[in-house]
Amino acid sequence: MSADAYNIEDLRQAAQRRLPRVAWDYLERGAEDEVTMAANRAAFERIHFEPRTLVDVSARTLRHTLFAQAYKAPFGIAPTGAAGLYCFDADVALARAAATAGVPFVLSTASFVAMERVAKEAGGNKWFQLYMSKDREAAERLVRRAFDAGYEALVVTTDVPVGANREYNLRNGFAIPFRINARNMVDGLLHPRWLTQVFLRTLLTSGVPRFQNVDSNVGGRIIAKDLSAFRARRDALDWSDIAWLRTIWPRKLLIKGVMAAADAQLALQHGADGVVVSNHGGRQLDGARAAVDVLPAIVAAVGGRMPVLFDSGVRRGADIVKALALGADFVFCGRATLYGASVDGEAGVARALELLRSETERVMALIGCSSVAELDRRYLHLPDSV
Ligand SMILES: Cc1cc2nc3c(=O)[nH]c(=O)nc-3n(C[C@H](O)[C@H](O)[C@H](O)COP(=O)(O)O)c2cc1C
Repeated sequence: MSADAYNIEDLRQAAQRRLPRVAWDYLERGAEDEVTMAANRAAFERIHFEPRTLVDVSARTLRHTLFAQAYKAPFGIAPTGAAGLYCFDADVALARAAATAGVPFVLSTASFVAMERVAKEAGGNKWFQLYMSKDREAAERLVRRAFDAGYEALVVTTDVPVGANREYNLRNGFAIPFRINARNMVDGLLHPRWLTQVFLRTLLTSGVPRFQNVDSNVGGRIIAKDLSAFRARRDALDWSDIAWLRTIWPRKLLIKGVMAAADAQLALQHGADGVVVSNHGGRQLDGARAAVDVLPAIVAAVGGRMPVLFDSGVRRGADIVKALALGADFVFCGRATLYGASVDGEAGVARALELLRSETERVMALIGCSSVAELDRRYLHLPDSV
């Protein structure tokens, strides 16, 4: 089980063994030729530490404050849609593990558990990730629900004007609501633990795995779980939609998927409280630069006027320290905690968070730095690409 995992890679390998191909590929893989996904990792590996020695780090701490909220570590769980393919009630498991670890959790619009139940059953600091379409009525319904359920921040994902090109999903017959074809059926039978503990258990308790937050207004009638409004003309979104969101959402508003300094400035101008520098873990635009390579320019452009959050490619505490030292105010992980969920449900997510926490703390000690606030570029040796 997850206690035997000594790093995220151990969890990754165990997750691969557990999952049928259709679910594994959706978790693990990127868009097209996965150039950006590989670049995310390669970029972290090109950044090296320049440690200081004989620094008293005995009082070191990972505690870190964001939006006036104190967290036990400077990282959290990124939104992942269809997480319910990886363990039973995954959205609740992820949120609970984050609450126990004292870190934030972002629930995806595309969750298999309705946002109200996650809020009720999990506790902790929860944010809601919004996939919005040009259908403002549908967007507003989601936003109001997130507000009423107590979500503290709205994270608007903007790097999906159209769906990504992920050819393996087509080959595997991946679809939500989940569809069973001959190949998936055989693969499911070859992964009996997943079949019984995840798929059949979900099927028996809440029906065919499907998105639970989205609905449509068809001729005045709200049709639950209809995806058409949710996807309608997403390619027509622009900054005026953010300005509109700002008028209906009084809590923290973050833009996720920012990869250009100019867009971070536009986010500020349109009333955002923060941006998430992210290339969606290499799952959207293949050929985009590594997220960590664009981070410094965005941090510079923002100039401390709002927090800059970061995700994409984080697999080790060292990656978290590097992103923070480059100016990120907080770091998020997508796949790392889903590997944990796949192996061992909530306990597996807790294991992933604990591994990242202990690695981060150890690296901080080894470079001679006692707190997140002290981390900066002086601890790094950067390649020319950054
Ligand atoms: C299976 C999976 C589903 C995802 N679903 C969403 C989503 O619904 N909304 C979103 O904004 N990002 C989604 N993402 C992207 C993550 O929020 C995050 O940007 C990415 O995973 C970070 O890269 P990493 O996996 O290398 O940590 C998803 C990622 C994965 C792996």
